[in-house]
Amino acid sequence: DMSEEQRQFDEKISADQKVEPQDWMPEAYRKTLVRQISQHAHSEIIGMLPEGNWITRAPSLKRKSILLAKVQDEGGHGLYLYSAAETLGVSRDQLVDALHAGKAKYSSIFNYPTPTWADIGVIGWLVDGAAIMNQIPLCRCTYGPYARAMIRICKEESFHQRQGFDALLAMMAGSDEQRRMVQEAVNRWWWPVLMMFGPSDADSVNSAQTMKWGIKRISNDDLRQRFVDAAVEQGKVLGVTFPDPDLKWNEARGHHDYGTINWDEFWSVLAGDGPCNAERLGTRVKAHEDGAWVRDAALAYANKDRTRRAA
Ligand code: 3HC
Repeated sequence: DMSEEQRQFDEKISADQKVEPQDWMPEAYRKTLVRQISQHAHSEIIGMLPEGNWITRAPSLKRKSILLAKVQDEGGHGLYLYSAAETLGVSRDQLVDALHAGKAKYSSIFNYPTPTWADIGVIGWLVDGAAIMNQIPLCRCTYGPYARAMIRICKEESFHQRQGFDALLAMMAGSDEQRRMVQEAVNRWWWPVLMMFGPSDADSVNSAQTMKWGIKRISNDDLRQRFVDAAVEQGKVLGVTFPDPDLKWNEARGHHDYGTINWDEFWSVLAGDGPCNAERLGTRVKAHEDGAWVRDAALAYANKDRTRRAA
């Protein structure tokens, strides 16, 4: 028969109450949260790289300072999410070591290159747009620390999306060359952004269980559909097209139909064979190694300071 703790946990979940770090929880619930929250944190940190390489090349001081603020926000989101993961009994070092050893996943989307300034606007508009779509339901996640982190992060994400759309609007009001640059960036990012929402529901190994536990609230395909419906309308305002001949409004469904996603590409990017996987991970490992002396010095100072205070 079921243990009293399991019964109480099940009651909490079905009453849609929050599970807090000190509460009893099934080991599988804890493990899947460590998996998802750490991957989310890794995504934020790796996500700083594609945009970071445009900070020194932004076209104006205004765009430079906005991009600087956004990349700093992503770093903060990462640290916030590592802290949420640590409430589940894992250390940040363990999580970061797993990432650097190629054992932990991060969002596939950050393994694509950013060859032009328009890519930065498209990342803000579509990548952060998809991230918001995915993160708003997570504000209602049953695990307290994760839900609270999401509420704080979603506030900053809406600024990220608006600044990207605004940068693209400026370019669309510019020269033909700028309009072409925006359209080419949309063509490059559209399909990889749809892959951000994960495999189709039929191929999603975690969804059934995480939806029962109130971690995932809306399925991969339903979120993807919401995103497509919203992006098509925004694309009309911007004056861009999408690289999908099957993308069209389906009155009967009340949604846009769209073409088939290249799942071979998705799974190969997850396996580490995307355009920038090696470069992204290599950059992170180098930054971590080059920063070791700072961490050691800070720890040495903290220990000395603690001994001095204790004396
Ligand atoms: N990139 C990398 N891995 C992915 C993926 C993607 N886009 N989509 C799915 N996967 C992985 C899953 O992690 C899982 O592998 P695992 O069991 O080894 O972890 C496998 O593919 C099967 O997918 P599932 O649908 O079964 O997995 P989930 O139930 O975990 O759903 C998810 C995937 C929707 C991404 C979910 O994990 C999630 O909501 N994560 C939190 C949100 C997140 O990580 N967002 C990243 C967006 S980028 C970002 O936030 C930065 C922004 O500020 C720009």
